[in-house]
Amino acid sequence: MADNCFAGVDVGSLSTDVVIINASGKCLAEVVIATGLNGGETAQKAFDQSLNQAGLAQEQIKAVTATGYGRASVAFATGKTTEISCHGVGAHHLFPNTGTVIDIGGQDSKVIQVDERGRMLDFTMNDKCAAGTGRFLEVMAHRLELGLNELSDPLNIKGETVQISSTCTVFAESEVISLLAKQTPREQIVNGLQRSIVNRIWSMVTSIGIHGEVTLTGGVANNQGLVLVLEEKLGKKLNVPENPQTVGALGAAHIALRGYHK
Ligand SMILES: Nc1ncnc2c1ncn2[C@@H]1O[C@H](COP(=O)(O)OP(=O)(O)OP(=O)(O)O)[C@@H](O)[C@H]1O
Ligand SMILES: [Mg+2]
Repeated sequence: MADNCFAGVDVGSLSTDVVIINASGKCLAEVVIATGLNGGETAQKAFDQSLNQAGLAQEQIKAVTATGYGRASVAFATGKTTEISCHGVGAHHLFPNTGTVIDIGGQDSKVIQVDERGRMLDFTMNDKCAAGTGRFLEVMAHRLELGLNELSDPLNIKGETVQISSTCTVFAESEVISLLAKQTPREQIVNGLQRSIVNRIWSMVTSIGIHGEVTLTGGVANNQGLVLVLEEKLGKKLNVPENPQTVGALGAAHIALRGYHK
């Protein structure tokens, strides 16, 4: 049984994610649950599940770094760090040649430039409105009566598209309503929506510039259609982690490990 272990807890607007690693950085547990009304309780629940998954007792966790917008509510954390630092470090551990990280979460999106150790050099973020975030896609999926998996289908972006010109989520939703009233096929609307969100992200990417390999993190990296549109724009493949939602928590766990050894 591993003795010295470290945890990262990311309390995001939609998901709370926990990763436990051992002293060599090996991942022992990974948990993603929906963030409830009480961030502190959700974090404790996700942490308990991760201890259970790893077969560890709480005393074996030597340091816990909390991140995400709800990090202040994590009572059992021994340290707290911004999501920007955590996504950089997490992406670096999964893809060591990462120079640029694009994190598209539920509530905000960020483009982060990192150095050869995953440390942040520069970043830009959109946290002012839902456009360019996972929440935008959820609102539209609901309006189109599609599940997130159906909306994410890569087949939707292969055919014709329509222009969605509003950048505001509320106005874009009105555009979708009029397109539906004109009997526009849903796949064309989805195609237009995926392209509109990528355009929002793209303006952030160009303001920071592309450096090295580009790693996509956050739950929206599960949206395969969006990944393809972004790759088309980028002109190269993105690094897409197997569990994109836990990259921030993974980075937080590594920051806890580094801090303990200092
Ligand atoms: N299977 C899936 N297919 C498509 N999209 C998905 C899937 N799972 C999650 N998402 C997207 O991921 C988003 C949530 O991402 P994530 O869990 O990274 O957010 P968060 O970290 O809680 O938010 P934030 O970082 O903004 O506080 C959802 O809004 C949804 O659009
Ligand atoms: Mg997040």
